[in-house]
Order: sequence, then structure tokens, then C-alpha cells
Amino acid sequence: MKLLVVGAGAMSESLVKGWVASGFAQEDITMTNRSGGTRLTEVAMRHGVQTIEQEDVTLYDLVILGMQPDGVLDYVANQQWTNQTIVSIAAHITPDEIEQVIGRPTIAAMPNTPVAHRLGMTGLWFGSHVGEEERSIVEALFERVGEIAEANESTMPAFMAAAGCSPAFFYEIVAGMVPVLVDAGFEAGNARRIVAQAMKGSAEILMQSDESTDRLIADVAAPGGPTDRGVQVLRAHQLFETMQAALRESAREADE
Ligand SMILES: NC(=O)c1ccc[n+]([C@@H]2O[C@H](COP(=O)([O-])OP(=O)(O)OC[C@H]3O[C@@H](n4cnc5c(N)ncnc54)[C@H](OP(=O)(O)O)[C@@H]3O)[C@@H](O)[C@H]2O)c1
Repeated sequence: MKLLVVGAGAMSESLVKGWVASGFAQEDITMTNRSGGTRLTEVAMRHGVQTIEQEDVTLYDLVILGMQPDGVLDYVANQQWTNQTIVSIAAHITPDEIEQVIGRPTIAAMPNTPVAHRLGMTGLWFGSHVGEEERSIVEALFERVGEIAEANESTMPAFMAAAGCSPAFFYEIVAGMVPVLVDAGFEAGNARRIVAQAMKGSAEILMQSDESTDRLIADVAAPGGPTDRGVQVLRAHQLFETMQAALRESAREADE
């Protein structure tokens, strides 16, 4: 399968890095942008993929639109399409908007930057022209770089908040915890590694287990013990309500 990635920005590069790490053939990935030059040389050097300044979209099976949202509809309208499947990662552009312009099956994908480490969470919103074959190809492509979830017009804003914005929430939580370890004598980088690994291990348990979060908390928090007392502090400070309010606010923004 030949892949063209239009746009060589941060998100496109994260995806390409993850795909290459997953074993996707470098010679089958081509990147392009508007300004060419050093940026394309840079991504080619870093990831061993092909780059091109003047692309012919008909030479590819799947075209990833990785430019800023305001450039997407003009771009698709100005290309000659044959039998390509389109994947747009541009926020707020719906698959139907693109399908209405060019009549090609389109998927709006919303990845997050952990795709670079193959730990992404990508929302996939399938346009009405997408058939079973295109659907499974695109699902498999994003499963190479993490987990996928189907989304639609109603669920995409909450998805974007939970998968796209929440990394910043987690960084904020880590930043709040690190000083306690630093005060105890750990060097800051080491303190961050300790908290991040505890978070990563907990995430893995959440992914593997069917137990409720209350049950998982009970597994580590004996009544009245140190963990339980810490959890009570979080509850007294309304962490639950705070996280919900943050996520709802991000989802509201994502919906605008
Ligand atoms: N960053 C994230 O976490 C994230 C997450 C999910 C989705 N997204 C979506 O991903 C898209 C890109 O985000 P980004 O952060 O990677 O942005 P970015 O760093 O600004 O990169 C945008 C890229 O698109 C290229 N480009 C713009 N118009 C083009 C055109 N007409 N033809 C070819 N290339 C064009 C730019 O090239 P020049 O520099 O040459 O103009 C640049 O390489 C956005 O639509 C965003 O909504 C981002």
C-alpha cells in the first residue's frame, strides 16, 4: 500500500515515526508540504521515508491530509483523484464535507501525539462513502500505532477532549506530584520518571482489567492506610468533579 502524507508538521511526523517503527515499509511512505526544503530533508533523514515537492495523488492508495484545517477543502478540490482513500487528520473537518467535494471515501481520524511511540489513541469517523474494505485498511493502519475507537459527529468532541487534550491533564498531575519527590531528595528527572512509570503501569492495569476503578483502588488502598488517606485528600479536594469539569470544558471547546 502506497501512502502519501500531505503536511510534514508535528502530527504527521508523529504518525510517520510510529508507522515506520511498526514495520511499515519506508519506501511506501511519501511526505510532502508546501514549502519543501529543509523540513522535508529533515523528516526524510530522521525516518528514512520518501519526500516529494510536487505530488501526484493518483500514484498513492491512501492519502493522509495532515495540513491545518483551513487548507483541507481547497487542497482536495485542486487535485485530480482516481481511486484513492482519503484520511483527514484535520480537526473540525467532517468526512462528509470532503466526500461532497470529491466523492472519494473519506475518514476523519483524530490521532494524538503518543502515536509516535505506538501508544496512540485515534478516533475514526467514517464517511458515508466508506466501504468495508477501506474501513478495515484504515483501522489496521491506525492500530499499528495504538488503540482505535469509532467516533461520529456527536461523540467526536468528547473523544478529542479525552484522547487529545488529556495528555496535558496528565502532565499537570505529574507536575503537581514531582515536587514532593524532589523535596524528599530525588533529582527532578528521576522524580518525573518515577511518577510517569507509576502512571504507565496503572494505565496498563486499566487496559488489561475488567474490574471497576473502585475495585482497583481498593486493591491498593487498605482502609485507613497511606493510600486510602491520600485518596481521601483527593476526594476532599473534589478531584472527581475537577476532572469532569476540565474534560467537559475541553469537549465544549472541541465542539466549537
Ligand atoms: N498536533 C496535534 O496534537 C494534533 C492532533 C490531532 C490532529 N491534529 C491535526 O493535524 C493537522 C496538522 O497539525 P500539526 O500540529 O502537525 O500542524 P503543523 O505543525 O502546523 O503542520 C502543518 C503542515 O501542513 C503543511 N501544509 C499546510 N498546507 C498545505 C498544503 N496545502 N499542501 C501541503 N502541505 C501543507 C505545512 O507545510 P508548510 O510548513 O510548508 O506550510 C506543515 O508541514 C491539523 O489539521 C490539526 O488539526 C493535530
